[in-house]
Amino acid sequence: MFVCLCHGITDKQIARAVREEGVGNMRDLRKQFGVGSQCGKCVQLAQQVIDNTIVDESLFKEVC
Ligand code: FES
Repeated sequence: MFVCLCHGITDKQIARAVREEGVGNMRDLRKQFGVGSQCGKCVQLAQQVIDNTIVDESLFKEVC
């Protein structure tokens, strides 16, 4: 699903950046993809994707 239409960035790209490239907040994400740097409508959803990915990662680590 597209999160940032201005830059064509999907939730999968954001989740991968969080998991593999150390993105942990909107500032990192903006630097990496430009998310939120134009109209700004994607900021809330992008933040949710970051948070959910971090929660999923920590749950995964607890189980393993
Ligand atoms: S939709 Fe992301 S900056 Fe416009």
